[in-house]
Amino acid sequence: MDRRKLTRRIFIGLGAVVVACIFTVFGVAFRFLRRECKRNHSVKDNPVPDDQFRRVIRTRFDPPDMYNLEAVTVDSTDVVLRWASAKEAKFEIANAEGNPDPYWVERSLSRYHAAQLTGLKPDTEYSLRVSEIGGQANERVTFRTLPDADEILFTFATFADNHFKPDGMSWPDGRLYRKCSDVHQCLVRDLNNVGADFLINKGDLTEIFFSGPYRLRAYRDAVRELKTPTYCIPGNHDHLRNKDFKADWLDFAGTNRVHRSFDHKGFHFVLLDTCWTGEQERGYLGPEQISWMSDDLEKNASKPAFIFTHHPVNGDTAENRVIHDYAEFQKAIAQFRDVVAVFSAHTHRNYATSSVVTPAVPYIETASVIQYPMGYNVYSVSRRGIKQIFKELSDVSFNEESWLCSPLRCLTNPGDGIGKIADRNLFIEFKHNLRTA
Ligand SMILES: [Fe+2]
Repeated sequence: MDRRKLTRRIFIGLGAVVVACIFTVFGVAFRFLRRECKRNHSVKDNPVPDDQFRRVIRTRFDPPDMYNLEAVTVDSTDVVLRWASAKEAKFEIANAEGNPDPYWVERSLSRYHAAQLTGLKPDTEYSLRVSEIGGQANERVTFRTLPDADEILFTFATFADNHFKPDGMSWPDGRLYRKCSDVHQCLVRDLNNVGADFLINKGDLTEIFFSGPYRLRAYRDAVRELKTPTYCIPGNHDHLRNKDFKADWLDFAGTNRVHRSFDHKGFHFVLLDTCWTGEQERGYLGPEQISWMSDDLEKNASKPAFIFTHHPVNGDTAENRVIHDYAEFQKAIAQFRDVVAVFSAHTHRNYATSSVVTPAVPYIETASVIQYPMGYNVYSVSRRGIKQIFKELSDVSFNEESWLCSPLRCLTNPGDGIGKIADRNLFIEFKHNLRTA
């Protein structure tokens, strides 16, 4: 027998042994499981329930009566709580210390619940109990209201990461593309109700890969009913390095330059372009834009300034999604004492951080429109400071659906994006030497 034939026979023999082993293992496993199932059935029929196997099953599969309770929006005198329940139920909210008078009582049965409590005291800690009326479910929530902002000079709102894509399936990370148009209808309604002086969209208006102009037109149609003027900056998904996309985008944004600045009631707003042709997930400003920003801040040094970017710009905290030249950016803004805060998007999470280079400047990442926690931010500016609150879309079912259809969230976005209360609701007091309007 020649060597090739011998080798082939050895391989065939080994293959047969492996297949036999697999069948044996599966056979043993099948018999074991069948026996366990039979045993479990006999346990079910048996009045003695204290069996380890049944205990594990019962613990794993008992659905919670209520879940996802959050103090989502915490303002100076009001709070919005949100939660879901396993079945349709009515809830009430009372003082957790046992005061029997409820602050709030739900009027109709629902699975998705949101309650706004008003008339709270500023800068005060509250502990509340949310309980099912006539049922078992109840949870506590604790929060501290924001300080009073004094007389509000003006408000503005921001939103970001719309990833408008009305023609696609929802993604397993919770992006609700399937309901994209409905989500935007709700967003437009909510933003119109804010009554802000202006809006800023911090990028990724669209989910563009091959059908950019079509999706930008669709986005424009979806937000046509917005009554408030909107400034836009691009995100990596807007693909502005494609010249055709850029021309359309500039036309839509009503500008001839992506990075720009403007004034409002004595405050200065700087919009930067962090997108580039290199690594999409990580942005880049480049020396020319940083130099333009420094000149612009120098010329407007008498005004408190807010800076807006798509990619985060604090390298200590934003993992691998921060701009490459964040060190140069921070070194540049450290020269200007009137820079109040930097607001970014891209990471689809609420997250507030600081940097040793600019310790007085908070770096604030905010959540997206399309993926849990879906919402927007409202800013109230007074002489004392700027207050940020995060508001979820008023139709709570979008956020619950996004949460439920995102089994990959634990892998893609640790901390699940909603952040801590102080990541999404905060008051930035102007420094004593800040020259407010
Ligand atoms: Fe992005």
